[in-house]
Amino acid sequence: MADGNALNPLVVFTPSGKRGRFPTGTPVLQAARDLGVDLDSVCGGRGICSRCQITPSYGDFSKHGVTAREGALSEWNAVEERYREKRGLKQGRRLGCQAKIEGDIVIDVPAESQVHKQVVRKDADDRVIELDPSTKLFYVEVREPDMHDPSSDMERLKEALAEQWNLPDLLGDLRIMQRLQPALREGKWRVTVAIHFGRIRARGRIVSVWPGLYEGTIYGAAFDIGSTTVACHLSDLRSGATVASSGLMNPQIRFGEDLMSRVSYSMMNPDGAAQMTEAVREAINALLGQVAAQAMISTEDIMECTFVGNPIMHHLLLGIDPVELGGAPFALAAGEGMVFWASEIGVTTTHPDARVYTLPCIAGHVGADAAAVILSEEPYKAEEMTLIVDVGTNAEIVLGNRHKLMACSSPTGPAFEGAQISCGQRAAPGAIERVRIDPDTREPRFRVIGCELWSDDPGFAAATADIGITGIAGSGIIEAIAEMRLADVIDIDGVVRGSLMETTDRVFAEGRTFSYLIHDGNQKIVVTQNDVRAIQLAKAALYAGCQLLMDEMGIESVDRITLAGAFGAHISPMHAMALGMIPDCDVENVRSAGNAAGTGARIALLNAGKRTEIERVVRDVEKIETALAPKFQDHFIGAMAIPHKTAPYPRLRKIARLPDTPPAPPPGTTGEGGRKRRRSRS
Ligand code: FES
Repeated sequence: MADGNALNPLVVFTPSGKRGRFPTGTPVLQAARDLGVDLDSVCGGRGICSRCQITPSYGDFSKHGVTAREGALSEWNAVEERYREKRGLKQGRRLGCQAKIEGDIVIDVPAESQVHKQVVRKDADDRVIELDPSTKLFYVEVREPDMHDPSSDMERLKEALAEQWNLPDLLGDLRIMQRLQPALREGKWRVTVAIHFGRIRARGRIVSVWPGLYEGTIYGAAFDIGSTTVACHLSDLRSGATVASSGLMNPQIRFGEDLMSRVSYSMMNPDGAAQMTEAVREAINALLGQVAAQAMISTEDIMECTFVGNPIMHHLLLGIDPVELGGAPFALAAGEGMVFWASEIGVTTTHPDARVYTLPCIAGHVGADAAAVILSEEPYKAEEMTLIVDVGTNAEIVLGNRHKLMACSSPTGPAFEGAQISCGQRAAPGAIERVRIDPDTREPRFRVIGCELWSDDPGFAAATADIGITGIAGSGIIEAIAEMRLADVIDIDGVVRGSLMETTDRVFAEGRTFSYLIHDGNQKIVVTQNDVRAIQLAKAALYAGCQLLMDEMGIESVDRITLAGAFGAHISPMHAMALGMIPDCDVENVRSAGNAAGTGARIALLNAGKRTEIERVVRDVEKIETALAPKFQDHFIGAMAIPHKTAPYPRLRKIARLPDTPPAPPPGTTGEGGRKRRRSRS
């Protein structure tokens, strides 16, 4: 134990800075444990796992008040020598369980020897996830059976885990009992076990056993089940690294493009829900096979999975008929965070004893995907009022800060994803993703996915000869319509101005309405009046949902807006605002969070404490039901205008000139009052 005896050597650990005095002869691993320093060990100090590697430093460390001399640690011993010969040990490293303290010393714990490593997130920011997975490995030496002391192998395994790892009261399953005896005998009474700690303070459960010291690692897969795609990230649970990722179209699409059509399929067909459950589970098993092949590991090494998805995807995965989610009061069968055997939900391309965790759903229409976005973005830790919008066929909206969080969903429909748009298509090579329109000439220029050049750059035609120009992706249609408004091709009500036919042949009549031509080639790419209407309906629903939450929160503007979802990553913040999809905000405070739901699933995979955290946060989220809110309709009508009938958008006006609207209000005023709109010229 650390003590205050000034005669005992002083030990300072870096990077933690923890320090204490220990009697001569104390193993470094022991000193680390006493001080709560994060130093790994799977073998319990037996000198065989090498997880406890440390780097001693010698010299004068005035910063730490320590002068460390050669000889401050015991001599290199036979165990270390054997390890170095067999496996190799980096120059300057020692095994913390073998090296003993003999004098004042500074000891560095390298990142790979820390249990709770900080895993840097690869997404938009550099936030880190502390590694603390639910399933961990422990190596133990078990007493051999004795005629005079009759006890089962399982009893003696549990006794060893209690004594050697201070893990009393563990649970074991039939499958472990079936495999324990051969493992113990093959490993000469030494085994490695995987223990799953499903809940803080809950009893750990032995979920797997290997003979001897298991030198491999274990993996976990984080799934984001969207109505269109299913994405999977495979992580090493010992290092936290993402080692493979893959995605598939959600095969449930064959039963219905959007969520409601899948609920209807379930209502109309006696085994409809079961068919959709089977389809998504097949996709999950296929993805597990794909990521394991990419990482060149056995699927048997996958010990854990986490899942996020909207409530309908969540229920179908669990084999629950989502019919109750198809109408008010949208009752979830169960929404809390849950732990199962993977095999219980048909996920079998894993270790046979793998566990799964589903993040909690927030409400019958705001799912575990929204919970995962909250976990990834952590608005509940910030002072700033943040609006998070996960744009999809059903937008999920979260508003709040560390004092309060609210959530709702809004039925935007599939228009933002290019469906219901005459030239709409999924984001794929050849789809227009960026559009600019010259406000003077009304001439457009654009970019397509798969080519970095703009359409008016030299070489564009040659560069796109193979991929073609095939349609408009969701981000392209948002920019196209926002640009049409900024260039005054459409008026505030979204009407394509037919009078422009006199000055540009980009505008042409189609029946009783007018369309705008973006590209004339093998395929004509146009934006029709109906396209504008479809986007107006979608964006009005989204804006109305945001406004409803702002009303309930009692605020008139937000500090930050985060666009979540793969699609959100491609939306230009200025255009989203010019279209009136989102409320006014300083454009530099509008950012994309990329696939925040997938990141949330990965956080829950790598850190068990985060599961408890998000379950607590979700319990306190105030749920707002858009379908029941009378104001939703009023907000919707106002939001049909582009960008909005009455909202002044002062911050947008600082960076974009909106035609047919008054100039930006003087600083310090709200812009309300005295505001008149000139009549449209068309
Ligand atoms: Fe396993 Fe030191 S703790 S080698």
